Amino acid sequence: MSIVYLNGVFLPIEEATVSVQDRGFIFGDGVYEVIPVYGGRLFRLPQHLARLARSLREIRLDDPLSGEAWRHCLEELVARNGGDDQSVYVQVTRGAAPRDHAFPKDVRPTVYAASSPLKPLPADLAGSGVAAVTLPDNRWQRCDIKAITLLANLLLRQQAIDQGAVEAILVRDGQVNEGAASNLFIVRDGVVVTPPKGPYLLPGITRDLILELAAAHAIPWREAAIPLEQLHGADEVWLTSSTREILPVMQLDRRPVGSGRPGPLWRRMMDLYQDYKRRVRERGEGS
Ligand code: PDD
Repeated sequence: MSIVYLNGVFLPIEEATVSVQDRGFIFGDGVYEVIPVYGGRLFRLPQHLARLARSLREIRLDDPLSGEAWRHCLEELVARNGGDDQSVYVQVTRGAAPRDHAFPKDVRPTVYAASSPLKPLPADLAGSGVAAVTLPDNRWQRCDIKAITLLANLLLRQQAIDQGAVEAILVRDGQVNEGAASNLFIVRDGVVVTPPKGPYLLPGITRDLILELAAAHAIPWREAAIPLEQLHGADEVWLTSSTREILPVMQLDRRPVGSGRPGPLWRRMMDLYQDYKRRVRERGEGS
């Protein structure tokens, strides 16, 4: 049985209900986080909470809980769902009120957190990687906010799946910024490159950890805009997210990437990432 947190109470998921007037339901007026849990420990929790606080600020909603209260609540949620490995979903909406585009006054936000099993990574990742396609980025101009309003992302992801790929890499003004639900890295002449943070991409927690690991292990890296032609000519292409870690893209727009095998820098970064996870699992280090 899955236990969820809703507005201060822990209860079985079947018993958790919100009002049909909730602005999350009516408008998609809310923000969210997805936090992986390894060995019962919330991975990079301070970073996820900082991003949540920023998303809330950007949509002009007060953070309903303090950092300590969030930690307490989410740790309790993880424990009640049996510890071990999980994926925690957190959502805050502007609450329930009669439908009106203007913000309601004196309304309590709806705070929801749930846990689900961490889905295994695609099989044979190191062998054959994954396929991706490029698609025009038709999302809004505030992709840096982790908003629950994800219809454009869903349509893009589904378009990629319909073409036999796992992800859409999104092109805006001739540059690639991120995937429909992942950040983007390329390797070019031995340097790991990812687009700088800005309004057209989500500041990914996995992205930041990869740059941290690269810096700590003397792997050359750079934040720079990536023109579409550079993506197509890259030696390696990776897609990163909390739930899928680092996916090596082996096929892009139906053509092989680089050597056609997962590249050496992906292998190295994947080892460092797994090592980091192991330390968190065992000692809580960096979690
Ligand atoms: N999505 N870009 C977008 C648009 C995303 O939706 C995500 C993650 C990322 C990667 O961010 P992070 O490394 O912090 O997970 C980048 C989550 C996993 C989701 O919506 O399920």
